Amino acid sequence: MSHFDTVVSRADTGSLKWDLYRGKDILPFWVADMDFPVAQPIQAALEARVAHGMFGYTLAPEGMSEAVINHLVAEYQWQIDPDWIVWLPGVVTGLAVSCRAFCPSGHEVVVNPPIYHHFFDSHEVATQHVVRVPLKREDNRWTYDMDAMREAFNANTSLVMMCSPHNPTGTVFTREELQALAELCKEYNVIMVSDEIHCDLVIDRSAKHYPAAAACPDYADNIITLMSGSKTWNLAGLNCSFAIIPNAALRDRFKAGMQSIVPGVPPLAYEATLAAYRDAQPWRQELLDYLAGNFQYLQDTLGATTVLSVEPIQATYLAWIDATALGLSDTKGFFEQHGVGLSSGEQFGQPQYVRMNFACPRSTLEEGVRRMQLALQSLKR
Ligand SMILES: Cc1ncc(COP(=O)(O)O)c(C=O)c1O
Repeated sequence: MSHFDTVVSRADTGSLKWDLYRGKDILPFWVADMDFPVAQPIQAALEARVAHGMFGYTLAPEGMSEAVINHLVAEYQWQIDPDWIVWLPGVVTGLAVSCRAFCPSGHEVVVNPPIYHHFFDSHEVATQHVVRVPLKREDNRWTYDMDAMREAFNANTSLVMMCSPHNPTGTVFTREELQALAELCKEYNVIMVSDEIHCDLVIDRSAKHYPAAAACPDYADNIITLMSGSKTWNLAGLNCSFAIIPNAALRDRFKAGMQSIVPGVPPLAYEATLAAYRDAQPWRQELLDYLAGNFQYLQDTLGATTVLSVEPIQATYLAWIDATALGLSDTKGFFEQHGVGLSSGEQFGQPQYVRMNFACPRSTLEEGVRRMQLALQSLKR
């Protein structure tokens, strides 16, 4: 038995995930946080900081940048300078700030659906145009359609917003794929913003994540990398993320874009993130194995049905499920009626899909699968 098997109730904690269905018998498998308590070193760090009793405006604590730098070297052989790091309260904040800072009014931001919905939203508060260039499915995997990308790029293209690894398709892009994209960006003088929030969640051990800036060192001066420990160590409610911007001029523009609208990182968020990167790597390795087991279980059960296709993923704890064969107009609503709360593919730009968050104890997942199987059986009657 793994400690990840322990079911901990999230009732009365204001959990966004669970409270959506408060008072209803619907198990939530939607928004991307995990039903696991944090690693013990994180819990201990938070308790120690709380005991101090003062929570004023806070700088990154001693050792914070070092912990991130060590992690990037160990995992990705990417050596960064501490000055390149800009602390942020969220990765979505980093996407929106990038749009404001680097994409003038009337210019174009390229995004690749199906994709996390904030990639569509980040520009809307500003005045840029979003250009959607769908990923293509090739050899059982989603990747960039470079012909379509080339067609979409023009003199007005300022930014490409990448999700790497990709939510919701779970793709870990190869070095060559990233380099091909950088080549195109170079031709058109386009800045790359690479959201790598899921980079430490590669569950397919044969895949390797490359930070875009590390894969394309010649173009790194034009790449903004966005990272966070929030998905991997289950700290989404604490709000600590960071941008890595090697080019000082771009960094200044990014910081100017944050001015007066982006709050500082809260003290507890810093402490938890420091403990995560520095002290909770063994917990992460156990988590990856547990998540891989859960995904295998989904493939063996739901994947064995003829009407749902659980597509292979390399990273994240989000299964991308093709429900086209069901022929329903509201697949999410259908499963909700049978006690299972999924994310609708529509949110990501692909309505015939649903996304299922499998970062929960196995018994919760088993119950969700059981209910989905019963739902499918009800269609046959
Ligand atoms: C690709 C991606 N970026 C950003 C976020 C959210 O980041 P944050 O909560 O730090 O704004 C998520 C959450 O699921 C995500 O999947």
